[in-house]
This record gives sequence, structure tokens and C-alpha cells, in this order.
Amino acid sequence: MKGSRKSVILGGSSASMTKNQGDSMAKAKFLPDWFTRNDIKPYVYIRNENSSYTPGVTHPVDWFNEKEHLQFEPTLLKNLDFGEAILSLEGNAFEESAMPMPKWVFYDCAIMPGIVSGFAMKRSSLPEELEQLIKPAPGLKWVPISCFIAIPTAFDGQWIAHNLTSANKFLKREDRLKGLGYLSKAFGLWYANIKKLCGVTQWTSPAIKLHSCYGDFELITAYTPIHTHKNTFTYKSWVDSRKWFRFFTKEDAPEFHSFHVDSGLEIDPTSTESMKDIHIKLEAGNGPFFLSEDQIRKQKLDEALKLYMLR
Ligand SMILES: CC(C)(COP(=O)(O)OP(=O)(O)OC[C@H]1O[C@@H](n2cnc3c(N)ncnc32)[C@H](O)[C@@H]1OP(=O)(O)O)[C@@H](O)C(=O)NCCC(=O)NCCS
Repeated sequence: MKGSRKSVILGGSSASMTKNQGDSMAKAKFLPDWFTRNDIKPYVYIRNENSSYTPGVTHPVDWFNEKEHLQFEPTLLKNLDFGEAILSLEGNAFEESAMPMPKWVFYDCAIMPGIVSGFAMKRSSLPEELEQLIKPAPGLKWVPISCFIAIPTAFDGQWIAHNLTSANKFLKREDRLKGLGYLSKAFGLWYANIKKLCGVTQWTSPAIKLHSCYGDFELITAYTPIHTHKNTFTYKSWVDSRKWFRFFTKEDAPEFHSFHVDSGLEIDPTSTESMKDIHIKLEAGNGPFFLSEDQIRKQKLDEALKLYMLR
């Protein structure tokens, strides 16, 4: 057990089991119904020495306080099957973009330095499509259905999000667990008390709809030819969990306009020339530029986005 937060440590140094809060757990009204299911739980697949002794203490949001999470120590052989299932889900999700994570990257660049987190589903509840896709080992009782990986950077207190995967991508619309991707990242940020987060994604990726809803969303690179995909951008999230509810309520963020002003510049997420143009402006020190979560939520992925500056 870590502090007052609830954990079930599987294959870790302790083997404590707490009362399952399940459906009795108080839940914010806007959170999806699946969030209180007993057969779906957050997990951390984390080396014991990386694990948090005070999950969530720096985040005002209370969604995960009473939600029991599973904890697996990845270096123990008995937890290998859970890790293999994460890789299987992730490999399928990133096949299309040619970025499945090599196994050594998972170990050297995720398990060793950082946190691997997400939600897991009890094997007996796993939909057949996911059983076929992930092909979990026969004895695996909890199967990962999402994954968020964050690793600390050399800059004090700053992390980088290096993976977000959700099984929703493989489920029929009516079977999807609404907000699974969003809540997976939220749980990881909460668990590790992350306040400053950089991340990397491709312009026009649906993931931008999620990434822009964790806090002020600053553009660090607009064009990134050193990456496998040059039409990649790098962002910095000034993580503020007080704003997370808006991902579900879809309310506007009025305070954004109190602190930011339209720069008059736009970026066309379908044009490499536009990316280069904005990137050159960033390099020249004309930023910082921020994107508006309201605009990202309301419009199509290929439409131009306004760049805002601090007032
Ligand atoms: C991107 C990904 C993580 C989204 O996970 P998810 O569980 O479907 O997302 P959530 O349920 O939390 O959020 C759903 C919202 O995301 C956005 N979204 C998700 N897929 C979308 C798509 N194909 N097109 C447009 N918007 C999309 C929408 O805003 C949607 O809300 P809505 O249903 O009200 O329109 C998942 O599709 C995935 O694993 N993709 C492959 C790997 C990947 O690209 N990861 C991101 C790397 S940066």
C-alpha cells in the first residue's frame, strides 16, 4: 500500500490486497460508466524503485484517489506475460504509422527510467476481438487494454510522454470504453505527479484531441525532420488537472482568453511549408505559441489552427 491511495501489488515486494471499492466508489457525474467497473482497473507496470509513494498528491483532481490500481514489477519473470501483452497491443496500434515500439526500447527507454501505466481488464470480460488481437498468455488474469508511458527528462521535473495506446482503436463504436485513452494518460500523470510534460505527435493525428486537454498546450517544434516522421510536432503541456473534466463535458475554457491573445498566425496541419514557416518563427524566438483546446475540439483534424501568445 502506498499512502492512502489503494494498490494491489502483483509480483512486487509487498502483496497487500485492499477492499475493492468497485461500484460503491463515488464518481464525478461526467466520468464514463465503465470507470467504476470492478473488472477494469488502472495499472502501473513499474520497477519498485520508480514507483510513487504519494500518487496524485500534487493534483487536485480526485478521480483516482479511491480507485484501486494493480501494480506489476516488470523485472520479475512472473510478470513477463503482462508486459508481452502491452507490447502486443502497442505493436498492433502503431503498425499503421510504422512506429511499433521495439522490445529493447520498451525496456531501456520505458521500464528502466519511467512509468508504464494504463487500464487492464479482467480476462473473463475481455472482448473476443481483443483476445484475438492481443493473444494474451493463457494464464494471464488481467490484460492491459491501454498504455501510457512517461519518462523523466534531464530537465528538473519535466517528463516526456513517449507512448499512448488504447484498445478502443480496435473495438466497434458501440463497444468502445469512452475516454479510455484520455483517462489512461490522466492516470499516469496523476500517479507520478507530473506537472510539466512534453510530448510528440503527428499533425492531423486524432491523438491531438486528447493531448490538448491536460493543461495549456505550448508548441515546442512545429516541424521535426530529426523524427521518423518529419511532420511531427513537439508540445509542452502545463498540466493542470482542474481542467481535465472539460474533456468529458466539452465545455469551453474561458480563462484561456484571459491569458492568451491571438497572434494572427495559423498553422495548416496538412502543409509541410506551413509547419516549416512556424518552426522558423519559433527558432527565431517569436514564440512561445499556444494552441487552443477549444478550437482543436471543435474542428476537423485537417483544418488550420490559430496560434496564440501569452498576453
Ligand atoms: C489515439 C488513441 C490513443 C485514442 O484513444 P481512445 O481511447 O479512442 O480515445 P478516447 O476515448 O480517450 O477519446 C476519444 C476522443 O478522441 C478523439 N478521437 C479518437 N479517435 C479519433 C479519430 N479517429 N478521429 C477523430 N477524433 C478521434 C475524439 O475527440 C474522441 O471523442 P469523441 O468520441 O467525443 O469524438 C487511440 O486511437 C490509439 O491508440 N491510436 C493508435 C496509437 C496512436 O496514434 N497513439 C497516439 C500517439 S501520439
